[in-house]
Amino acid sequence: MATSSRCNKATLLMAFAVAAVLSTASRAQPPLQYNFYGSSCPQAEATVRNVTEGIIAKDRTMGAAFMRLFFHDYFVRGCDASILLDPTSSNPQVEKKAIALRGYDAVNKIKAAVESVCPGVVSCADILAFAARDTAVVSGGFATFDMPSGRRDGVVSNFIEVLQNIPSPILKLPDLIKNFAAKGLSVDDLVTLSAAHSFGQAHCSFFNGRLYPTVDPTMDATFAAALKTVCPPPGSGGGDPVVNNNRVTDPNALSNQYYSNLVTGQVLFVSDQQLMSSNYTAAKAANNSANATAWMGQFAAALVKMGGIQVLTGTAGQVRKYCNVVKS
Ligand code: HEM
Ligand SMILES: *[C@@H]1O[C@H](CO)[C@@H](O)[C@H](O)[C@H]1NC(C)=O
Ligand SMILES: *[C@@H]1O[C@H](CO)[C@@H](O)[C@H](O)[C@H]1NC(C)=O
Ligand SMILES: *[C@@H]1O[C@H](CO)[C@@H](O)[C@H](O)[C@H]1NC(C)=O
Ligand SMILES: *[C@@H]1O[C@H](CO)[C@@H](O)[C@H](O)[C@H]1NC(C)=O
Repeated sequence: MATSSRCNKATLLMAFAVAAVLSTASRAQPPLQYNFYGSSCPQAEATVRNVTEGIIAKDRTMGAAFMRLFFHDYFVRGCDASILLDPTSSNPQVEKKAIALRGYDAVNKIKAAVESVCPGVVSCADILAFAARDTAVVSGGFATFDMPSGRRDGVVSNFIEVLQNIPSPILKLPDLIKNFAAKGLSVDDLVTLSAAHSFGQAHCSFFNGRLYPTVDPTMDATFAAALKTVCPPPGSGGGDPVVNNNRVTDPNALSNQYYSNLVTGQVLFVSDQQLMSSNYTAAKAANNSANATAWMGQFAAALVKMGGIQVLTGTAGQVRKYCNVVKS
């Protein structure tokens, strides 16, 4: 277990205690707990689950939106719901201005339902984590798994930090690995979590460089030809359409189909295809493709890990009333 020399004894003990419960922990975790709202809001997790399920049932594309919100929130200042804050006159350049994500209204709906059963108790950061877990269940067919909670909401949200932390889809493998390592995530986590690109949508502009002026030879030629019928050449005035990440099977199912697509050159981003550029990550992808159960276990563990790093707990931060607004 990695421990920094700055860890004091209490932190270390706490970390060991958490690690004992959380067998997937590979480094000191802040003091999140299972069932944190067990006495303060016993209906919290069931309410998030119910509303999340209802939203995805109505619009199956929403699972991907919840999953990506969790990833983007976590990669900037840890899971503190900073991604959800709206611009204000004193802070116009918030995170959500940097990259367009979907699902903000849906998160507000979940929060409103939770507020109606226990006002002022459940943080938006925990709601994002629960909704990501529930998405794996509803959109991925996972058996439900425990997601530790007790996160608090941050009050800082800054455009610049998105540009500094969120990986670009044209990164090469060594830079992807560095980017994930900076967030406490391993090469295995990178391969495991990238399967989130088995569902949801992407704008052509994020992968057009693989289609024009010439087709990237690592992309399947038939797949590329089909994409070119949807995505116009950059600068041609044809706009920036959206396509499904997974164009082979159900585009709204979180699944290990991602790895078959990877092996056959049917993924969209340079950053996806780069997982085939080393023997280790390619072998990992082949294993995940061959065994869905093994991948699911790893994906659930990686979500929990992602959700536990750099969080605000205790009396740090606040619990917002509305997820898009700092509570004054
Ligand atoms: C490895 C580095 C990653 C890069 C470079 C990356 C990049 C991107 C890009 C460019 C898009 C398209 C966005 C758009 O056009 O609107 C996208 C979509 C998406 N990403 Fe990633 N991503 C990465 C990792 C992850 C991880 C770790 C997750 C979650 C665990 C994730 C979940 C998603 C989902 C679900 C979508 C579809 C969103 C939607 O349907 O609205 N990504 N990603
Ligand atoms: C579950 O969600 C539905 C909407 O999808 C709502 O009508 C119902 O009241 C919710 N039930 C509980 C127990 O939260
Ligand atoms: C990767 O595998 C190929 C054969 O499949 C082998 O020639 C090469 O040495 C391997 N590279 C590394 C770094 O193991
Ligand atoms: C892939 O699976 C095989 C067989 O279980 C195992 O020996 C190998 O270490 C795995 N490779 C990786 C990179 O996980
Ligand atoms: C798939 O992975 C699971 C969980 O790691 C394991 O129990 C099972 O034996 C594996 N199945 C095969 C066919 O290797």
